[in-house]
This record gives sequence, C-alpha cells and structure tokens, in this order.
Amino acid sequence: MKSDVKQLNHISFIMDGNGRWAKKRFLPRSMGHSEGVAKAKEVILHIKKLGIRYVSLYTFSKENWKRAQDEVSFLMGLILKHLREDFNFYVENKIGIKHIGDRSGLSDDILKAIDKVEADTKDFTDITVLLVFNYSGKYDIAQAYNRMAAEGLKDITEDKISDYLLTAGYPDPDLIIRTSNEFRISNYFLYQAAYSEFIIIDKLWPDLQMKDIDGALDIYFKRDRRFGGVKDE
Ligand code: IPE
Ligand code: IPE
Ligand code: MG
Repeated sequence: MKSDVKQLNHISFIMDGNGRWAKKRFLPRSMGHSEGVAKAKEVILHIKKLGIRYVSLYTFSKENWKRAQDEVSFLMGLILKHLREDFNFYVENKIGIKHIGDRSGLSDDILKAIDKVEADTKDFTDITVLLVFNYSGKYDIAQAYNRMAAEGLKDITEDKISDYLLTAGYPDPDLIIRTSNEFRISNYFLYQAAYSEFIIIDKLWPDLQMKDIDGALDIYFKRDRRFGGVKDE
C-alpha cells in the first residue's frame, strides 16, 4: 500500500546498539538485549499514545544467525519469553501483534507463541505492532517472486509485488528511525522503504528516550515528502 503524504500511519524502528550499550557497562551483550526489550515496550506504549496506527520493530535479521551461538540462543529465548510472559502487555493494552518474517528456521515453541499472540490480539486494531523477526528485505522479495511464480502469475506489476510481500495489507513505513548513528538499511524493508523518510539517532537503543521520538516526529512533519513530484507552492 502507498503511504499518505501528510500523515504518519506507520513508524518503524531499526533497534540497533544493544551490544554496545552492554559493552560500555562491562556487561554481557545479552544484558543489552534484555534492556532492548524493555525499551521496545516503552516505545510501543508511547506510539500508541501518539495515535500512530502501525509500528514495526526490526528485531532479528536473517543475517543475525551469523552471530555467536550463545547470543543467537539467548535472543531466541528472549523472544519466546517476551511472547509468553509479556502476553498480557499486549492484551491489557489492546495492542495487535503480527509477525513479519520467515517462519522456517524458527522453533515450534516460538511459532506456537507467535500464533497464539496473533490470534488473541487480532481484534485490537487501534495499534498493530509488526514484529519483524527472522526477516530480511532480499528474502522477502525472493519469497514474493517464488509464490508468484508458483501461481503462474504473468505481467507482474509493482502493486502485485507489494501484495505478495510479507507486509501485504499494511502501509509502507512513512518514517524509519535507526538508533546508534548507523547510516544503513541492513537488509530491512528494501521494497517498502522506497519513499520512507529516514532519521538516524545518535543514541544506543536502550538509551533512547521518548523525547527523542517526539523530536524525530517534529523533524518528520517539517520534511517535504515529494515522492518525485514538485513542492506545492
Ligand atoms: C540490535 O543490537 C539488536 C539485534 C540486532 C538483535 P545489536 O546487537 O546489533 O547491538 P550492536 O550493534 O552490536 O551494538
Ligand atoms: C540490524 O542491526 C538488524 C536489527 C536491528 C535486528 P545489525 O546490528 O544486525 O546491523 P549491521 O550488522 O550493523 O548492519
Ligand atoms: Mg547492531
């Protein structure tokens, strides 16, 4: 779906810097990830308060499997714990949740927890969290093409590709915020970010404050999104 020029329907976060946050404190990287989850919950509630309809969180990329086995295992355990133990966080706050990513390669426990939280929050439509987990932008485009090929589709249009991406039915991100002062997309929403605004914040993810998000929104609303056109006089 196309983005709206004046509105902000979908805000997205590349939550980067958990490891550095821990390292600065001489703590194991895992502690940074635990802090990262707490920060993500704070951010979700803040976005809900702002009345933004969709928030996506880049939680684990397909390239993150390259990390040390103990870090990967910790992250898998952390997501499972979050989905199981923080389940009430989503239900009590009436927050819908939807997994965006490759289901293959994820454990049955994680898949079951995802299915449960998705089903139990499906009627909460004020805000939906897109949990971008075991995802990469190139993977997403490839799986879309594979499904279109399997269905024998011809004359594939740009909109058709959007319909087969894992984000089908959700608006493209209007604004993507990345923390930790890293100026790259790291195989995130490659197709969906065609006209997203980018804001890079020079703070590690666990150090992010809600006023940093408010500041980013001020910048976003002052920007002139032209989508290739010419600024209105
Ligand atoms: C982001 O923090 C979380 C994940 C990618 C899972 P990092 O773990 O990338 O933290 P840094 O970039 O090493 O500091
Ligand atoms: C991007 O962060 C992925 C997530 C935040 C989940 P990375 O830390 O994996 O990105 P690179 O390796 O610095 O590009
Ligand atoms: Mg990183």
